[in-house]
Amino acid sequence: MSTKKRQFNIAICGLGGMGNWHRGTITGNWDNGRQDPVENLHLVGSFDIDPARQAFAREHGVEPYPSYEAMLADPKVDIVTIAVPNDLHRPLAIAALRAGKNVVCEKPVTISSADLQQMIDVADATGMLLTVHQNRRWDEDFVCARKVIEEGTLGPVFRVESAVLGCRGIPGDWRQEPEHGGGMILDWGVHLLDQICQMFPGRRIRTVYATVDHVTNELVDDGFYTDLALDGGVVAHVEVGTSHFIGKPRWKLFGRDGSAEIDWGCKGRIVCVTDRSKNDAVPIRTAAGLTKTMAPRTDDTIKEFPLPEVHCDIRDYYRNVMDAIDGLAPIEVTIPQVMRVMKLMEAVRRSAEERRIVPFED
Ligand SMILES: NC(=O)c1ccc[n+]([C@@H]2O[C@H](COP(=O)([O-])OP(=O)(O)OC[C@H]3O[C@@H](n4cnc5c(N)ncnc54)[C@H](O)[C@@H]3O)[C@@H](O)[C@H]2O)c1
Repeated sequence: MSTKKRQFNIAICGLGGMGNWHRGTITGNWDNGRQDPVENLHLVGSFDIDPARQAFAREHGVEPYPSYEAMLADPKVDIVTIAVPNDLHRPLAIAALRAGKNVVCEKPVTISSADLQQMIDVADATGMLLTVHQNRRWDEDFVCARKVIEEGTLGPVFRVESAVLGCRGIPGDWRQEPEHGGGMILDWGVHLLDQICQMFPGRRIRTVYATVDHVTNELVDDGFYTDLALDGGVVAHVEVGTSHFIGKPRWKLFGRDGSAEIDWGCKGRIVCVTDRSKNDAVPIRTAAGLTKTMAPRTDDTIKEFPLPEVHCDIRDYYRNVMDAIDGLAPIEVTIPQVMRVMKLMEAVRRSAEERRIVPFED
């Protein structure tokens, strides 16, 4: 029996920044060189309402469809990837599902849980696959942080800090406009909250507390900070900022027996206690006082370890989509997971608006 997998045809709607990233990933054809394409996945066309992006497609060897309707009417197309501003995901995904296409929707899937429910209803009615490009699940830093926790090196983990801090404000496009689903909770929050849910499978998030920034933009949040209280005494602190000229490591993990810090590209370290019975410290003296309580341990009772190695390949995302369509594997990014994160983002916003701790899965 042949083990050769069948070929899928894919088309991209919206060939802006992220649509072009999908083009490059699928075809392996980047402006600065070639990489391996996603095997068995053939990009048959794209559509963008901007004529300049239609021309861009042609220049990059992709045949643009004259309209979205023409893309959906093409029987060759098995999968449609939707990479347009956030408010347009719902109508364009629903149209694609109704046309009998499988849909890969960019994150955030849409801008409210009520909107998402409409998309789910159509996916259920048509039987087509609806999934979301939560690509940051394949980021090395996240995979590494999850591995550190799973390996138990730190002992029971009680606090996780996940931060993405930039200093260039919100991009000056639709991301600044609430009607298009702007703001950083929907933009980066969706990734970081999804990662926390993936990091602690099966644990309920009991409560949410959040505050938001409006440093450079009054209409949408240009940053936010949230504490999620999970089952088992774990607090996950998630922050996203766009006016932070001094950043933080991407992850900090704290367990009873050790701590880890992990930055982009998986740079970082693990520090663990080696002998709890000895807890001598190197006192910290300031002009006004002395502390041993908060001083670092002496070197003989701690040990530093390198981070575990991880290997990530984002093409696994599309490989899984194709396998899921053919019933060869469960889909990695499921709709119940996506709905949970959508409701979590709504809880973050509600907590900030009402200035209170919001019960979530309590
Ligand atoms: N997963 C990720 O890592 C990641 C990263 C960046 C952006 N995104 C997501 O991708 C989506 C697009 O973001 P972007 O940064 O590429 O924005 P962008 O503004 O660069 O591109 C959006 C494109 O959509 C086109 N467009 C608008 N309306 C359209 C329509 N009705 N039909 C066809 N094309 C239309 C625009 O002309 C533009 O070219 C957003 O949902 C965003 O959140 C995801």
